[in-house]
Amino acid sequence: MSKALGTALVGGGTGFIGSHLCKVLKSHGYGVIVISRMPGPQRMTWNDLNRQGLPDGTTTVINLAGQNVLDFKQRWNAGFKQNVFNSRINTTSSLANAIVSAKKKPSVFVTLTGVGIYKPDKVKEYDEDSSETEFDFLSRLCHEWENAAKLPKGTSTRQVTIRSGVVLGRDGGMIKQLYLPFFCGLGGPVMPGDQYLPWIHIDDLIRLILFVVGNQQVEGTLNGVAPQNITNKQFSDVCLSNLFEPVFIKIFRLLLVP
Ligand SMILES: NC(=O)c1ccc[n+]([C@@H]2O[C@H](COP(=O)([O-])OP(=O)(O)OC[C@H]3O[C@@H](n4cnc5c(N)ncnc54)[C@H](OP(=O)(O)O)[C@@H]3O)[C@@H](O)[C@H]2O)c1
Repeated sequence: MSKALGTALVGGGTGFIGSHLCKVLKSHGYGVIVISRMPGPQRMTWNDLNRQGLPDGTTTVINLAGQNVLDFKQRWNAGFKQNVFNSRINTTSSLANAIVSAKKKPSVFVTLTGVGIYKPDKVKEYDEDSSETEFDFLSRLCHEWENAAKLPKGTSTRQVTIRSGVVLGRDGGMIKQLYLPFFCGLGGPVMPGDQYLPWIHIDDLIRLILFVVGNQQVEGTLNGVAPQNITNKQFSDVCLSNLFEPVFIKIFRLLLVP
């Protein structure tokens, strides 16, 4: 483990965002331990965390764990919603409790929640100081999630919450889920299509997390979104025209191009 930067403990470090982040943290000189439901090398389980607390030398704690909500094969029934809820709240509060109990506190605790905390609005622009009220399942989830992360006043650990837009990257998240339908020419906007889709590219999000971790003056809530506002329809059109093409065009091309 790196002595200078210490150990970064990453909940959900096996996932789409987590695996990108862990690679970059290692390349910057952090020792990385992933918290996963499955034991393995350079990993601990959530049970280990609850029993043993933070590993010695932990300087940085980041939570990226949570049941995937972008899996379109899943039905949003009560059981799935409970899983979505518990997987975020329980992991986040386990980390917050471990920080509170630690004799030597980490320098920073970062949680990644979502812009789902803000009520979609075609006119209103939100920033980090906008007030939010709970209005649906996702906004309630984000509120509870951020509450679960809150450390008691006076804790020396710096705390940052990043409210992320939809994270775009080829190997995970929304793009991975949409790849097959768009590849087959079956993709399209979620109707009516004029709703905004706040987004961020995976590389920018990783840079943002790294910036947050490394800069002691950054504290509180940040919105992690690209500056360009796009609608769901614009996003689908870009996917169709730039990334994918209908399957009959692919076949046509295969037949014509030797
Ligand atoms: N991707 C996005 O567009 C986006 C946008 C805003 C916020 N976020 C948030 O960022 C975090 C990471 O997103 P991601 O796209 O990287 O997700 P992901 O690829 O699905 O990875 C999440 C990780 O969470 C763990 N996990 C899954 N189900 C769990 C459960 N029931 N209980 C405990 N742990 C569970 C898994 O790790 P193990 O199998 O190793 O336990 C998994 O690798 C999530 O909390 C998500 O809500 C994502």
